[in-house]
Amino acid sequence: MSGLTIAGLQVAIGLAQPLRDCSLSVAPGEVVGLVGESGSGKSLTALACLGLLPAQARARGQIQLGDTALLGATESVWRGVRGRRLAMIFQNPMSALNPFFSIGRQLLEVVGAHFAEPRAALQLRVRKALKRVQLDAGFADKYPHQMSGGQLQRAMIAMALACEPELLIADEPTTALDVTVQARIMRLLRELTGQGMGLLLISHDLALVAQVAARVYVMYAGRTVETGPTRELMGSASHPYTANLLKAQPRLGQFQRRLPVIEGQVLPATSSPGGCVFQSRCWRATELCGLQPPPALSLRPQSRVECHHPILPTLLAKELEHG
Ligand SMILES: Nc1ncnc2c1ncn2[C@@H]1O[C@H](COP(=O)(O)OP(=O)(O)O)[C@@H](O)[C@H]1O
Ligand code: SF4
Ligand SMILES: [Mg+2]
Repeated sequence: MSGLTIAGLQVAIGLAQPLRDCSLSVAPGEVVGLVGESGSGKSLTALACLGLLPAQARARGQIQLGDTALLGATESVWRGVRGRRLAMIFQNPMSALNPFFSIGRQLLEVVGAHFAEPRAALQLRVRKALKRVQLDAGFADKYPHQMSGGQLQRAMIAMALACEPELLIADEPTTALDVTVQARIMRLLRELTGQGMGLLLISHDLALVAQVAARVYVMYAGRTVETGPTRELMGSASHPYTANLLKAQPRLGQFQRRLPVIEGQVLPATSSPGGCVFQSRCWRATELCGLQPPPALSLRPQSRVECHHPILPTLLAKELEHG
């Protein structure tokens, strides 16, 4: 087995169950999107992959990176995985960068922690990492406050890539940047994955994810409720929640920049419904939806939807017309 596989991941924090059932996979070199409203459990999924869940959290299920089981791994296993085989970038680059050290020194520290090599070889890795994110070698001497938001995000990506990880998890990597810089960072991330590294791109911005991801997972109330190849899923969603997200799109191929507001409240993490997690906001809900958890159906190759009454492709257009 290679790449990342998450199966049936559940996370409880106190009485809350913010992750109810998350399952996803990212093959080597693949770009996969994870999309959902704020609070749906995207960041917790990422943190679980890095063994960085809050101390009081209890996790169940399976997280595999290649042949390594990550959930419940020992500290010595984590040392070989975190930053080395699996790297992460966040919304705010300053959360990972130290304002008092130059970018070059911080990069050197990262590679020095993972490779037992002479200084010259480590410095070569630093120069290579800067080059990959299109920052010239002079940036090694710069301090974070001397750089723009886009340059800082590039420096953080360089830091993540310096150890040539198998998988990069990017959690809302461009949310804090303006739109043109956002597009450049996205292009950069896409180019980097061409070299065998997998990318899990997490965002509330469906349009952004659709630009780069080959497959998308849609998360709702801690469950991955639908997945499929990006084009198919964006063209005709099977889950009523995904369809709601796409409903306001002006034309096929021109997607909303932000998730539109969906009426009703997201299911609180402390509530445990008898049936489907989306029932209180769903326009297709029947009595059955309140009684039994929906089955996972595969209506198309590579696709999966958790719903008692999934929308069939030909019906979708009509429903949206009248909805
Ligand atoms: N440290 C924590 N303690 C308690 N609840 C948390 C903690 N971190 C996240 N949560 C809860 O878990 C849910 C999912 O959070 P998160 O994964 O950050 O969502 P997203 O990234 O999709 O916006 C939210 O309801 C949030 O309040
Ligand atoms: S199972 Fe029922 S309530 Fe849930 S999404 Fe499907 S139709 Fe809606
Ligand atoms: Mg988040």
